[in-house]
Amino acid sequence: MKKLVLSMILGFAFMVSCGPKSTAVSGPKFTSAEHLAQGKTVFENSCNRCHKLPDPAKHDDQGWIKTLSRMAPKAKLNDEQHQMVYDYLISVNKK
Ligand code: HEC
Repeated sequence: MKKLVLSMILGFAFMVSCGPKSTAVSGPKFTSAEHLAQGKTVFENSCNRCHKLPDPAKHDDQGWIKTLSRMAPKAKLNDEQHQMVYDYLISVNKK
């Protein structure tokens, strides 16, 4: 019985840790040149539809986490594109 309870708890913890929240961008992930180039392309194609392309130096690394979490859904980026744009921005913001 103890084992069953334990495995239920573990199973639940596993489900929670794999929920949609864990995919949110919380820091750098992609650093390869291809990913950064792809992030730049997505940024240049998706982020100038509603306003001028923002200056990557506008925010520091923390600031872009916040701004991108508001803007990525507006630009309809998927999680991977969101992450690549983030990694591109913090690779050029010099902050
Ligand atoms: C569907 C329209 C839309 C798209 C697409 C869009 N934005 Fe925005 N953005 C807005 C609006 C509206 C505001 C002003 C209101 C606000 O700040 O929420 C704004 C404001 C901003 C600001 C200024 C506010 C701040 O926090 O610095 C930045 C920077 C920004 N957007 C970056 C981006 C980036 C990067 C992308 C691409 C991932 C993007 N936006 C895509 C609509 C959009």
